[in-house]
Parts: sequence; C-alpha cells; structure tokens
Amino acid sequence: MRAIKIGLFGFGCVGQGLYQTINNSKNFEGEIVRICVKDRHKVRSLPESVFTYTKEDILNDPSIDVIVELIDNAEAALEIVTTALKNGKSVVTANKKMVAENLEYLIDLQEKTGKGILYEGAVCGSIPIIRTLEEYFGHEPLNEIKGIFNGSTNYILTKIFDEHLDYTQALEEAKEKGFAESDPTLDVKGFDPKFKLSILLTHAFGINVSPEKIANLGIDHLQPSDLEFARKHGYRIKLIAQASRKNDEVFACVLPQFIKENHNLRNVNNEFNAVTLNGEFCDDQLFIGKGAGSLPTGAAVLSDISALSYDYKYEYKKHYNQGKVHFSSENAVTVYVSFEKPEHIDLNEFEAVSEKFFCFDRSYVIGKIKLSKLLQSKWVYNSKISVVQFDNDTEISEELDLSALETEILELRKGQKLREKISV
Ligand SMILES: NC(=O)c1ccc[n+]([C@@H]2O[C@H](COP(=O)([O-])OP(=O)(O)OC[C@H]3O[C@@H](n4cnc5c(N)ncnc54)[C@H](OP(=O)(O)O)[C@@H]3O)[C@@H](O)[C@H]2O)c1
Repeated sequence: MRAIKIGLFGFGCVGQGLYQTINNSKNFEGEIVRICVKDRHKVRSLPESVFTYTKEDILNDPSIDVIVELIDNAEAALEIVTTALKNGKSVVTANKKMVAENLEYLIDLQEKTGKGILYEGAVCGSIPIIRTLEEYFGHEPLNEIKGIFNGSTNYILTKIFDEHLDYTQALEEAKEKGFAESDPTLDVKGFDPKFKLSILLTHAFGINVSPEKIANLGIDHLQPSDLEFARKHGYRIKLIAQASRKNDEVFACVLPQFIKENHNLRNVNNEFNAVTLNGEFCDDQLFIGKGAGSLPTGAAVLSDISALSYDYKYEYKKHYNQGKVHFSSENAVTVYVSFEKPEHIDLNEFEAVSEKFFCFDRSYVIGKIKLSKLLQSKWVYNSKISVVQFDNDTEISEELDLSALETEILELRKGQKLREKISV
C-alpha cells in the first residue's frame, strides 16, 4: 500500500467525518493535502491555509493522486469528477444523485481514462453493499434487492411511530442530526433512495436505468388517518426501495410500505439502513448499518480511498446481462390510497380494487395498480393523496365491482358538496 495524497472537495457533514476517520485510523497511509470549499466567510475548524476556493488548485496539482468529492451540488460535482478522471486522478464520491444520473457516462469515462471512480458512501452510508455485490455476488444471478435506503426518512418514521412526534418535528430533528440532505425534499419524496436504487440496479442486475424511469413516492403526504390505519392493523410504515427480477424483466420502485410485525425490516430504526437481497444460490441475506451521518459515511469514503491504494476498480461484473435483462414498469403493486375528495383519484387506473372505506373527511381504497401508472398519473402526486404499498405476500380480499364503486363515489361526492354548502 502506498501513502495517498488526497484532494478533498467539500468540508461539510461527510467531509469533516472523513477528516476525523483519517485522523483516527491507526493504519491508513495517506493525508488530505488540500480542501476546496465554497463559502469564504465560514469559520473553519482547520487552518485557513488548508483551504482553497479554486477547484483547479486541486485538480491541476500533480502531487495529488485521489480526488474525494463530497459537495452537495450534483452539477458542480460532475464537473469536478470529469476533470479529475481526465487529469489522470482516481475519484471517490458520495454523491448519489450525480452518480445515478450519469452512471453510463461515468462507466465510459473510466474505460477511456483508465482511472476508477468508487462510490460506496453514496449508497446506504456505511453498508458495504456495492463492493459486496461486485466481489461476493459478482457471479450469482440475483432475484431481488430491497430495503431501507434512506436514513432521514427512517429516522422520521421511527420518531412518528415510537414517540408520536409529528412529521415537522421529526424532520427538524433529522436535519439537526445531519441525516437529512441539504435539500430534504430529496429524502422525504423518495428521490434519494431512488438514486441509490438506480445505482444498485447496475451492480445487482447489470442494467443502467436512469432515475426518472423509476416510480418513487415519499412520506411527506402521509396523514394522521394513514398512521391510524397502520397502527390499527399492527403495521409500521417504512420507505422501501425495491427491485426484483422475474425471468428477464426487472421491476423497481420506491414506495412507503406497511411493515408487518414479523418483517425482517421491522426493527431497523432511526438512521439505520438495511439491504436485503435474494440470490439464486445464497437465498436471503440481510445487511444493516448506519445509512447517514458524518462518521459512518466518512468511514465508507475512507474504505474506498484505501481500496484505490491497491488500484481497485469496479468491474461492473453483471454487465454480461446487458441486452438480456430489461427494465419494466408493467408489474402491478398492491397499494392503499387515501384521499380527501373522490375526484382526486382515478379508479379506472387501477387493475382491481379489493377494499374501500368511504367517509366525508378521508376515504381510502386498496387495490392493484401498475408501476407505470404510478409513474405517469398526475393524481398520484397530489399532496392530498397518500399511497402506501402492501408487502407482496400480504393477503388481499376479493375484487370489488368498479362500476358499483364509482356510483358510491358519486354519492360521496354529492354528500361532500352538500356538507360544504351547509358549512358556508
Ligand atoms: N450527510 C450524510 O449523511 C450523507 C450520507 C451519504 C452521502 N452523502 C452525500 O455526501 C455529499 C456531501 O454531503 P454533506 O451532508 O457533507 O453536505 P454538506 O454538509 O451540506 O456540505 C457540503 C460541502 O460542500 C461544499 N461545496 C458546495 N458546493 C461546492 C463547490 N461548488 N465547490 C467546492 N465546495 C462546495 C460546501 O462548502 P462550504 O463549507 O463553503 O459551504 C460544504 O463544505 C452529498 O453528495 C450527499 O448526498 C451525505
């Protein structure tokens, strides 16, 4: 192992975590030579001479071997990473948005430059899932990969279910503890876990799927009545990222899900993440670890830097699947959809409806809907609608007659209108 000279971009939550892990590792041979940050007026914990505000000071420094990119801006990150690879430097990044949105380009750039980019910290913080998929499961066909990929929403949902905190309080706590992204809508609307899922699709199934093709719904629309429904039935709600393969088709989505008492993700709480996978030979596996935070993510970044010291690169071993395995959104999931007003939803978009509860204040239906509808239908993204998925093995009662339901919905609508008139 040779001593590595590191040029660091970003000295926020993860950058400072990395600095601490390097200083406290007993056997890591390397040092941070220079740090590029943005805000000239911020008070820093290190001498001013270590910092620069000009990216070229690092990118063009021939003494620097590795660029570690830990900034919170995906566009600027892509520029840094591209220049670094073209300048003959290896790269470590934790920026899931940048990696997910540009993975095909980055794979190509690695081939052209001969330099590697590692991004373990970008997916589930401290859980070493990418290298595990590449190295341990590189030759095993996988059937499924899923889990809790976002620490801040898991923290929020834990606080809501365990401590009865309301959503806003729980989000504030997650932000204070450094679990939330600078833009927390990426977390609470399910984009952050979707970026991670999109990256894992490449390493688990060998297909590059850009994030916009994957349906994602978050936890920010959940209503007290949804929590009540969950509690009444003995469920918790967790935001689950999931991908499964059936023959040569892979389905993927990020949805809040009801989690039963005996579910293996039930007790994965707070900022912890979990990844479960099912392989054709190994059957079920479960990995749990801190998915966010300064030191856990810093540790994943340190591990990548150290892997670069022996010239480790991802081989993208599952790419033999390209052209043989296809991404599809044509499978149906079973969901609970709650709504304030019946005109907010479109029952015709369901494959089938199996249960309904109609009430003046808030109603719900349970039914099957294709992922492609969740991706395309506008009503799904209405802030007054919440959608929660049932686990695949949940028993669902028989189908209801859709035309009879529509008549009932019309009645409900009339009743609501009348009530609104009276209250005016
Ligand atoms: N926080 C986590 O738990 C976690 C977990 C996994 C992955 N990540 C990922 O790690 C990355 C960093 O997250 P973070 O939580 O550490 O962010 P953060 O605390 O907001 O820090 C961001 C840092 O980036 C710097 N910066 C922003 N734009 C820059 C630019 N154009 N050039 C140079 N420096 C720039 C900022 O500079 P100033 O100091 O001057 O403002 C700051 O030091 C993100 O991609 C995030 O998605 C975070």
